[in-house]
Amino acid sequence: MTLRILGIETSCDETAAAVVENGTTILSNVVASQADLHAQYGGVFPELASRMHVEAIIPTVDQALAGAHVDWDDLDAIAITYGPGLPGSLLVGLNYAKGAALAKGLPLVPVNHLEGHFYAHWLHTGAEGSANGSLRFPLLVLIVSGGHTELILAHDHGQYERLGGTLDDAAGEAFDKVARLLKLGYPGGPAIELAARNGEPTAFDLPRAWLPGSYDFSFSGLKTAVLRILQKYTGPVPRSFYPNMAASFQAAVVDVLVEKTARAAEEFGVNAILLSGGVSANTSLREAARAGVPLPVYTLQKILCTDNAAMIAAAGYYRYQAGDRADWDLDIDPGLQLA
Ligand code: KG4
Ligand code: ZN
Repeated sequence: MTLRILGIETSCDETAAAVVENGTTILSNVVASQADLHAQYGGVFPELASRMHVEAIIPTVDQALAGAHVDWDDLDAIAITYGPGLPGSLLVGLNYAKGAALAKGLPLVPVNHLEGHFYAHWLHTGAEGSANGSLRFPLLVLIVSGGHTELILAHDHGQYERLGGTLDDAAGEAFDKVARLLKLGYPGGPAIELAARNGEPTAFDLPRAWLPGSYDFSFSGLKTAVLRILQKYTGPVPRSFYPNMAASFQAAVVDVLVEKTARAAEEFGVNAILLSGGVSANTSLREAARAGVPLPVYTLQKILCTDNAAMIAAAGYYRYQAGDRADWDLDIDPGLQLA
């Protein structure tokens, strides 16, 4: 039997809707990004994000249904992100989804956004580097985005163990903040990656927070170290400074992410490593992980790394199978964790 799920995602600054079959086949995947709008503020402006979701949600869902060539009657359920994320943004998606589910007589399946980043890997896309249906538990998942840095051990569907996470800034947040210091623009990750191509990763000896004995991360000291070096220049900063600092900063983040992931993979004997979230689009992170871990390291196409609704529909498929249904009084949970 074919199960067709409409996924809806509005936890941060992307209004997204997608139709996915059996948790694996993407029929449509629409993402209305607000990134350009937030660029002028150097980060996501929460109040603006929720207002933009209100404007974008209906056309985005319509586009997802049209793109999949399906009607409401062809759907089996609606999967909705209810946390973690920005409260105002989550509220728009959840209330829209409740209204649609009630009006169309469809079950509503609550999805944890972080679980969505995990299930992005269960989508069969045929893309190079992706798992394409060959996953076997246990799996190690590194979720690195603007809001999250999570190292998760997945024992089975829905059975997670959180090994560690960031104690301060998320990895993507560190990229965004350092890009702002280096005046490279927003979002900072792609800007730093681009600048780093012409830089020397060993030009600056930046600190790595190894936090021995734990799988936690810390990136705020790194950001401060970049600021201190920048402040030492009283006159004009040499042009080579920017690419060299971008490359050195990127190397410092990648070193710690890969080292801890490799150690956890060995300790827990996983079958594969899954890289998820916006920062996992970073080529240097992907290459270092593949070089540093003697296991398959699966990555995603860029649209599935960053926030999207296909991953929510994929997670929703497993939740649906497990019998999870939202009650009409389901509320958002901005601080929701995975385990
Ligand atoms: O997953 P995502 O779209 O949103 C959140 O859930 O946060 O991730 C966005 C984050 C931003 O911080 C952005 O700077 C970072 O991912 N990012 C990157 C790259 N592309 C996006 N970081 C490093 N290298 C990249 N190529
Ligand atoms: Zn995300």
